[in-house]
Amino acid sequence: MKIKRRSFLAGSAFLAAAGMAPSASGMLPSEQAAHDKYKATEVPHPDQLLDSEPLLQVPAPDSVGVSFAVNRLAVGYAEVADNPEMTGAKRYVCAGMPLAEISDRVLRVRMDGLKPATRYWYRIGAAAVTYPVGYWMKPSPIEWGALHTFSTPGEGAESRFAVINDTHARWEPFERVVAKLRELKAPVTVWNGDAQNTSRTREDLVNIFLKPKAGAGYATDAPILFNNGNHDFRGQANIHLDEVLMTRLPTERAPRDWALGRNFAIRQGQIALIGLDTGEDKPDFHPAAGGATRFEPYRAAQALWLEDQFKRPEIASAPYVVAFVHIPLFDPNPNANPGTLLEDYAAWQKQAAELWGPILTKNRVQVVIAAHQHQYRFDPATPDRTWAQMIGGGPDLQGNGRFPTVIEGLVADGKLVIRAHDVRNDRIAGEYAFEKR
Ligand SMILES: [Fe+2]
Ligand SMILES: [Fe+2]
Repeated sequence: MKIKRRSFLAGSAFLAAAGMAPSASGMLPSEQAAHDKYKATEVPHPDQLLDSEPLLQVPAPDSVGVSFAVNRLAVGYAEVADNPEMTGAKRYVCAGMPLAEISDRVLRVRMDGLKPATRYWYRIGAAAVTYPVGYWMKPSPIEWGALHTFSTPGEGAESRFAVINDTHARWEPFERVVAKLRELKAPVTVWNGDAQNTSRTREDLVNIFLKPKAGAGYATDAPILFNNGNHDFRGQANIHLDEVLMTRLPTERAPRDWALGRNFAIRQGQIALIGLDTGEDKPDFHPAAGGATRFEPYRAAQALWLEDQFKRPEIASAPYVVAFVHIPLFDPNPNANPGTLLEDYAAWQKQAAELWGPILTKNRVQVVIAAHQHQYRFDPATPDRTWAQMIGGGPDLQGNGRFPTVIEGLVADGKLVIRAHDVRNDRIAGEYAFEKR
């Protein structure tokens, strides 16, 4: 006789004989054993699982990202509150849907649903991940980091920013630059490219961005807006730079612009900050690219994005607009390398200048802040180019008129003030004021 499945399962005597009787909880003994083992497994409290300070990044009026290093497989957290007692704190786990990210080295958490121009307190946390029963994941107790604070951008935020560039993993100049950032306490720092030289492994990126040999904790209390330099595209690791440095949220842009991962246009008080990526300092046909770069269409795509930013009410209404690029958009020397030649490398980026320059002029942008030359310079505006250009210094501490800079932007007495701090000689290298546009 054929036994129906239902009646077979209901035959408890048979099941008990086979050691398969459901328990009082309704679980099969084997399943109950798995639950018991899971519950009984004590996951040890990790010791120094957190392996770096938090790096705040990609600030937006309603969100900010944080990444940090861990020293074994873990899931990450952040807790955020609008008060230092952390009353009513909201807990975030690593981003990812449907699976939250876990990693053996770098964790990234996006804190969203925030209010613009608001001060928050936060701490990062991590839990080691173990698998006591098959694929059943059990996190350890959370190891929490120290309490820090940040403020979100927005039209009501403080009208001030700082800029660093061309730090090139040179730790003595980096230490000086970070000391100046700590003194200025700007609410946001634009890192205007060439943080690296060439990074071949993820650990190279960890050592530059999360565990620098000097100046550690440089972005615990003010987020960075990272803008790529040509060196930030070099080496195998940089194809996966977003494993360490998060990109903008896709919801910040139109589907057409989703590939533009780091371009930013945000209001920091009365100033609109716009980040544009000039890419490599050599043309796509250069053998160094191995036929695998698309910087020319990338710059063209950014022109469409840039045009649209000025249609956003909060950008269109900004009294002051500052654009950030790594490679300059102008060079006073008519023979300067335009970045389109096989020989040598770009002193300025001609394609970007031709595509973006007129849009910046049409929208009366006051200043472009550039980098790449490793020498501080200021180029005043001209009748047919509304924007002046300030170029930050490089990592050179030897002299020859060269010095690292921290550029500071702020609004004072109804004017936008752009000030370059020479951190080698501890003086102001240049200061310029701009009227409302
Ligand atoms: Fe550089
Ligand atoms: Fe550069």
